[in-house]
Amino acid sequence: MLGIKFLTILSLLFFKCFCFRLETPGEGDLRGPCPFLNALANHNYLPHNGKDITISQVLDTSKKGFNVEPDVLGLFAKLALITSANYTVFSLTDINLHDCIETDASLSRADAFTNANNLGFNETIYQTLASSNPGVDYYNVTSAGAVMKARLADSVATNPELVNGDKEITFRATESALYLIVLGNPDSGVAPKKFVDVLFSEERIPYDEGWAAPSVPINGSVVGPIAGSVMNASQWVATGGNHTGALPFTVG
Ligand code: HEM
Ligand SMILES: *[C@@H]1O[C@H](CO)[C@@H](O)[C@H](O)[C@H]1NC(C)=O
Ligand SMILES: *[C@@H]1O[C@H](CO)[C@@H](O)[C@H](O)[C@H]1NC(C)=O
Ligand SMILES: *[C@@H]1O[C@H](CO)[C@@H](O)[C@H](O)[C@H]1NC(C)=O
Ligand SMILES: *[C@@H]1O[C@H](CO)[C@@H](O)[C@H](O)[C@H]1NC(C)=O
Ligand SMILES: *[C@@H]1O[C@H](CO)[C@@H](O)[C@H](O)[C@H]1NC(C)=O
Ligand SMILES: *[C@@H]1O[C@H](CO)[C@@H](O)[C@H](O)[C@H]1NC(C)=O
Repeated sequence: MLGIKFLTILSLLFFKCFCFRLETPGEGDLRGPCPFLNALANHNYLPHNGKDITISQVLDTSKKGFNVEPDVLGLFAKLALITSANYTVFSLTDINLHDCIETDASLSRADAFTNANNLGFNETIYQTLASSNPGVDYYNVTSAGAVMKARLADSVATNPELVNGDKEITFRATESALYLIVLGNPDSGVAPKKFVDVLFSEERIPYDEGWAAPSVPINGSVVGPIAGSVMNASQWVATGGNHTGALPFTVG
């Protein structure tokens, strides 16, 4: 009896380590424009091949890995299914469908119109974030807003197909709030640069650097104020534009 229990515990421990250990994507594994979902797949929370993901699976693993609640991510998760030809599952690459969840003026990806690889991490694009808030070792709502402003100015200057309306700013402000909150302090929105840089550039959860998931569940009441502060700091103005990828729709 005892032996069996011991073996069960041992195999559970082994399974846990095996499950969430880092494993870089191999040939045929799909990744996409969301650095956090890519990281969840790299750590085997999500299927390592990045395929056949359900809404409940992406919500469960976002909770398990980052303590983010479904009320924050539910809309993204539903839209993810729209990007897929399948009725029940999507892949991490499907969600790159332009103008659905995927927007222009991203923090770490090129705009879709460039026809450059707009799916993977782009070091040149990420330099704006990486060089923000000089002189201190953290990013905050002020720097995150300034980065969004600079990234939008770059797209205004270079992208004749730029789409930048209410939906886009809502998504981008939520995404900026999420990296500050999930990797930093949920109340202040102050996040260590080393955590953010590792997550974006390596798509690795910065456990080795000392990160732990937020102790409070990250729900809409936590994200709302930080997203609002970031949006204000970004001095955002709508520039319109026409959707060429997904169907146009509005939020709110
Ligand atoms: C804890 C969970 C999550 C966090 C912390 C997170 C965070 C982020 C961040 C910071 C970005 C911006 C990347 C950039 O601008 O370069 C992003 C982009 C994106 N996320 Fe997530 N995300 C999460 C969950 C999800 C879910 C559940 C979905 C949909 C199933 C999703 C889909 C996307 C997509 C499609 C983009 C690309 C948007 C763009 O064009 O930049 N994310 N996410
Ligand atoms: C959707 O994907 C699942 C899992 O791969 C598969 O079993 C199912 O047949 C697919 N359905 C359609 C309509 O393609
Ligand atoms: C990164 O983005 C820039 C600006 O859009 C583009 O010129 C460059 O080709 C991209 N780099 C890669 C490796 O895709
Ligand atoms: C963000 O950090 C910079 C640099 O320390 C600082 O000047 C700015 O006031 C901070 N923003 C907030 C909201 O505290
Ligand atoms: C959201 O989370 C905060 C912090 O844990 C908590 O105080 C609040 O009750 C939660 N709100 C909802 C609507 O669940
Ligand atoms: C953003 O700015 C508006 C208008 O000035 C203000 O009413 C609102 O309280 C600000 N939001 C945050 C979260 O600072
Ligand atoms: C967007 O569509 C409108 C109406 O369909 C058109 O008048 C306008 O020229 C288009 N703008 C761009 C930048 O293509």
